[in-house]
Amino acid sequence: MLHDSHGRTFEYLRLSITEICNFSCTYCLPDGYRKKPGPGFLQLDEIARLARAFADLGTWKIRITGGEPSVRRDFTKIIETLSQTPGVRRLATTTNGYRLKEHAQSWRTAGLQAINVSVDSFRPDIFHAVTGHDRLDEVKAGIEACLEADYEAVKVNAVLLKGINDNDLGAFLDFVRHRPVSMRFIELMRTGDNAEYFTRYHVPASVVSDALERDGWVRKTRTPGAGPAVEYIHGDYVGSIGLIAPYAKDFCKSCNRLRVSALGKLHLCLFAELGMDLRPLLQSDDQLDELKFFLGRSMHSKVVSHFLDDGVTGGNHRFADIGG
Ligand code: 5AD
Ligand code: SF4
Repeated sequence: MLHDSHGRTFEYLRLSITEICNFSCTYCLPDGYRKKPGPGFLQLDEIARLARAFADLGTWKIRITGGEPSVRRDFTKIIETLSQTPGVRRLATTTNGYRLKEHAQSWRTAGLQAINVSVDSFRPDIFHAVTGHDRLDEVKAGIEACLEADYEAVKVNAVLLKGINDNDLGAFLDFVRHRPVSMRFIELMRTGDNAEYFTRYHVPASVVSDALERDGWVRKTRTPGAGPAVEYIHGDYVGSIGLIAPYAKDFCKSCNRLRVSALGKLHLCLFAELGMDLRPLLQSDDQLDELKFFLGRSMHSKVVSHFLDDGVTGGNHRFADIGG
């Protein structure tokens, strides 16, 4: 099992397969994706070897991230490959939902079990303003398609933004009243590229938790292996609410995840200064043992906290590069 020097074990890998995204969310890629020179993103055989090494070391959950993972033409093939990796019991992805309506079923059939869809507002004009795309209806239809396709978990992510969606709690709650969907509010994080934006739009997740507690929502007890989200439930709602508050005290204590970027760099923390290049160890099946050794040894340089409170953003310039 992969573990670090601070008593944390890592059974969950967030694997980015592309930096490309067709949306231009104001907090992530305000100018849209621009192609950079350099090597291409991890290829299917490299992804297969990577997953095999992590799974051998006890990783049982993988989330495919980006960029927008579904822009890859071989996305379904990647799902198949990862889901067939022995030891991987939970395969999830995070998507902006633009291809969801037509693909929810085929991805499910290929082995995808859980899906997070980003919806920062249920008001079409706000959705458009944040993402640069007037596609709220399509994305909502995609979420319905996931419910029909019987995913094990469907979550909707919204980044909390002051003056944009922080007064919209009612609409978000309505969405989960009769649907088995978990709505997750994510506190805006400062990255290397968004300092001004952060100052203007950051709202603490406590505005949501205070409102929920006033409305009779109760905090669920943490289950072992749960990530950093705090979950709320309510008798009148089929769905639930999750809060992700990276600036909260002790957030990093429950960290159970590692990240690999689309270029094959291992990031021990979203905010780690430098990624460690795994790519040279992904070139042939014979390198499996060496890769596993390298991974095991790397864990010990994982630091205890992200120190975001001190204004550290480390190597995270923007989320589309490393995966949210
Ligand atoms: N702060 C918080 N979350 C972010 N994401 C992207 N940029 C940020 C940021 N600055 C997350 C959002 C989005 C996912 C793709 O990445 O949750 O839904
Ligand atoms: Fe694309 Fe997601 Fe970034 Fe929006 S937040 S630009 S959908 S990668």
